[in-house]
Amino acid sequence: MPRYSEEIIEQVREANDIVDVIGSYVRLTKKGANYFGLCPFHGEKTPSFSVSPQKQIYYCFGCGAGGNVINFLMEYENLSFTEALKNLADRANIQLPEAGGGESSELTAMKKRLYDINKEAAYFYYEKLKSPEGGIGLSYFEENRKLSKATITHFGLGYSGKERGELYKRLKDKGYDDESLKASGLIIFDERQISDRFWNRVMFPIMDQNSRVVGFGGRVMGDGKPKYLNSPETPIFDKSSVLYGLNFAKKSRKKQLLLCEGYMDVIALHQAGFTNAVASLGTAFNEKHARLLKRYTDEVVLTQDSDEAGIKAKLRAFPILRDAGLNVRILDMKGYKDPDEFIKAKGAEAYEELIRKAENAFMYEAEVIRGQYDLSDPAMKTKFYEELAEKLCMFTESLERDNYIQAISHKYMINYEELKKLTEYRFLKSASRRREEPSYFEKQRASSGNEELKRRGGSAGAASAAAASGPSRGRIGAGDAASQGGKAAEASKTSSQRPRKIGPRTEGRSFNASLKSQRLLLSWCIASPEVLKAVRKNLSAEDFYEGVNRELYTEIVRESEQGGISASRLMELYPEDEEKRSLVGLILNFDTGYKNPDELNSFELSKAVTKAVQSIKGEQLDLEIEKSGDDLGALQRLFERKNELQRLRISFDEEEG
Ligand code: CTP
Ligand code: MN
Repeated sequence: MPRYSEEIIEQVREANDIVDVIGSYVRLTKKGANYFGLCPFHGEKTPSFSVSPQKQIYYCFGCGAGGNVINFLMEYENLSFTEALKNLADRANIQLPEAGGGESSELTAMKKRLYDINKEAAYFYYEKLKSPEGGIGLSYFEENRKLSKATITHFGLGYSGKERGELYKRLKDKGYDDESLKASGLIIFDERQISDRFWNRVMFPIMDQNSRVVGFGGRVMGDGKPKYLNSPETPIFDKSSVLYGLNFAKKSRKKQLLLCEGYMDVIALHQAGFTNAVASLGTAFNEKHARLLKRYTDEVVLTQDSDEAGIKAKLRAFPILRDAGLNVRILDMKGYKDPDEFIKAKGAEAYEELIRKAENAFMYEAEVIRGQYDLSDPAMKTKFYEELAEKLCMFTESLERDNYIQAISHKYMINYEELKKLTEYRFLKSASRRREEPSYFEKQRASSGNEELKRRGGSAGAASAAAASGPSRGRIGAGDAASQGGKAAEASKTSSQRPRKIGPRTEGRSFNASLKSQRLLLSWCIASPEVLKAVRKNLSAEDFYEGVNRELYTEIVRESEQGGISASRLMELYPEDEEKRSLVGLILNFDTGYKNPDELNSFELSKAVTKAVQSIKGEQLDLEIEKSGDDLGALQRLFERKNELQRLRISFDEEEG
């Protein structure tokens, strides 16, 4: 995968101290052995983002982002591995081997070709718009959509022509091979012919936040269908991480970013001076979009269409943005369909006024909810209050929650004390529910443990796989099925994919115990050769069955045999998989809150390691016991093993070694 040798990568990593590098982006404060700061990857008010100078890794206890110095740069600056490596090599004055010298990865080379192809296509469409043939497109932009020449140039708008093979010809002339052209999505290959995807449409090049063209949207000039045709997803076009207009908006230096619905809204807004407008394209707004926005701003004003779909889009985006730590306000277009129409009708100043007056998103949502209840009916009124209380629980900080309780009770003339009581009761309940629920991390783990699940299921059968996967991940027993009524079928279908929300407490505990023990032992194996030795004696790789644990354990053993374990090298185990890397980060940082093995005396260490091994082995035995059914002989043997396990003592005394 990486085109550079492991040695040179290591050299670059070692030459760039992670605290220095991250410190130039995030304000870090030293606390004990580590540095802490506000996580740049999610919104937070108390620092849970840690950087370890010893291990040369970072890890956020809030959102689970983690990695080494290269990963940080990749995430923060949205760079590829190679780009980040180059950047750090420059920083440390290290000469990387000439590009092309090292063997380049297939994917990196393909991506480069795709960027080139898209850029070339953008030129092609742009030139065409300016050619006589493009007159129809140009007049559509200028007359129908009232775009200036400057705007057209700024956004690189174009026209795709009536022929269906011109772009193909141009790109072939430039020397691109069919495989790359197919991968670009701009050229369609079917049995009978090769043709351009876009023809006779006005073209909107889609740029990522670094102004690289990654795809296109093409609009019919009349009422044809589909109105917009877009590039398919490609290795360089991931719809969930591109926001149209962000390449300009990030430089706008305005207090907030405006989130609207489409190409034309963004363009019309920019033309009217609102250069801070962006849109998610052809896909619903999601967490990745939110994180992208959070890099550039603290406040987002939602200005999607005012129709029902637009309102839904706003209510959908609101919690996602909020969870990313963004302040959210909602702009009311006073009956005009979208910003484009509003500005055409009322002008830029009126729109500016709307931004100023944009309502806090929560108050907006409350108003939408109110619309759903007939408040003259006392029963409905109660329901309305209850729903408000439920919604108010989204504010997990009590001061903020109280501010909203006040605002809401004032606005809807609800007795403050009553609403407060209603809300706080719910909040406490939901807080205790939250404690039982798997954390964000556990969820991540559950989803990245999927293959693991399947593999285990493969040998033992689906039913036992569900059981073996650990109680919090969905053993749907008869009782559950009954209590979940009609949803039972659906629940059991998805149970292996999603963590189960609420499980009996005891189950949750034993599940957590095994998982925790696995993580604890892994982190100690890295820190202490003695622990590793003891673990190798008592457990096998199979015992580390959760998520990335087994692969990590195998790697730890391998590295220890080859002379040394490096946390920052372990971080590179999954260069392409953020979720898995994050789990590795969690494990490598697991000593937080625990003592390190070298701070424990041999008695404490024996006790802790023994307990961990017992909990891992014990859980497996419990599951086998559950599965053993009516086979009394098997059951008896399992209980014997369990007793034996209880007697296990792993010793770290000198004599016994
Ligand atoms: N969209 C799409 N495919 C469609 C319709 C819409 O991808 N068939 C996406 C486009 O990104 C579009 C956005 O959804 O910009 C919003 O759709 P719509 O409101 O219909 O488009 P407008 O931007 O308002 O387009 P116009 O003003 O040109 O009608
Ligand atoms: Mn629209």
